Amino acid sequence: MDTTIPITESIFWIGVNDRQTHLFESIWPLPRGVSYNSYLIKDEKTALIDTVKHSSSTNFMDKIKLVLPNDKPIDYLIINHMEPDHSGSITLLRKLYPNIRIIGNKKTLEYLNDFYGITENVQTIDDGDTLSLGKHKLQFFITPMVHWPETMMTFDHTDKILFSGDAFGGFGTLDTGIFDDEVDVSYFDDEILRYFSNIVGKYSAMVQKAIAKLKDLPIGIIAATHGPIWRKDPGHIITLYDKWSRNEPEKGIVIVYASMYGNTEKMMEAIARGIGTEYEKCLRIHNISTTHLSYIIRDIWRYRGLILGAPTYNMKLFPPMNSLTTMLENKLLKNRVIGLFGTFTWSGGAVSTLSEFAQKVKWPLVEPVIEAKCSPDAENIEQCVLLGKNMARIINDTVIS
Ligand code: FEO
Repeated sequence: MDTTIPITESIFWIGVNDRQTHLFESIWPLPRGVSYNSYLIKDEKTALIDTVKHSSSTNFMDKIKLVLPNDKPIDYLIINHMEPDHSGSITLLRKLYPNIRIIGNKKTLEYLNDFYGITENVQTIDDGDTLSLGKHKLQFFITPMVHWPETMMTFDHTDKILFSGDAFGGFGTLDTGIFDDEVDVSYFDDEILRYFSNIVGKYSAMVQKAIAKLKDLPIGIIAATHGPIWRKDPGHIITLYDKWSRNEPEKGIVIVYASMYGNTEKMMEAIARGIGTEYEKCLRIHNISTTHLSYIIRDIWRYRGLILGAPTYNMKLFPPMNSLTTMLENKLLKNRVIGLFGTFTWSGGAVSTLSEFAQKVKWPLVEPVIEAKCSPDAENIEQCVLLGKNMARIINDTVIS
């Protein structure tokens, strides 16, 4: 949406859509771009909440002028998050609005200096502090590690809007509108989970602390820094975030496999058939050589059962699978069950490394573990079918609260 849009009578979305960046943080694919949301509150004092990535600064400044014509000043810039996708326009903003007062917590102001060398006309706030703009009363809640140490949220008690930073936001540009009642919510649910599981999920314990801190606020609208603004049903995204950060999976199984010449793939197919005999729903199969890790991690975060299979490569685990297990180990994800399979030709390595991974993350192992030499024989295939059945039975018996 290449315009400014009122959220309430005096609060405006002045965010931008980025369709040029292919990889968010130079890692995560953006097949449908991403929005950087910024908000402007017009009152006796004017406040801007977050800025946008530097590559969109010109568009952003034009939008400010649309809401504030005739060189009207901006009194405050409130920084909820210092990552440069939101702080990247601060330097230019200060050039155009030299008297703007920058508000953040102690950590924010440390990073403001470290990233941009800005130390003047800044104001430190603490957790729970308030700021009156006239009609609008803002309150600040420090929510560290959702997503960085300085992250905070700002609540407008007047219009009941929570400006939540990265929390509750995800990938995808805002095309059909900016509100949850104007966009394809199921698309954004998936992309918010991809954002959460890959970027914020490691800090799930801190997300839980933030949700507990906000629980008594009368939130009417959630305005995150990415993705839609939740005005019709803010409870929807809070419930999802709560579930994801509690490590509460859904019933379902993900198979992630690699196969150089089709032999490990034959094992995957036998496992899938085994699953199908007991349980036909919610099976996701990913070929790790053709699917970006972020989509795989999203599905692993969603479902309880995971089966990993790969060939041995140079006496070790197939490298892309090794990247996945390394990333998963870093995520601290809990409450999953795991099955393993693999192949080797002259020396093992894949299955033993996968077994070490399963022990490290402490996910219960579903038997049998299958390791085939070169190509699976009839007994290997039978064992694969059994693994699929055993996993399906466990997932069927899972009680999801
Ligand atoms: Fe959207 Fe943590 O930056």
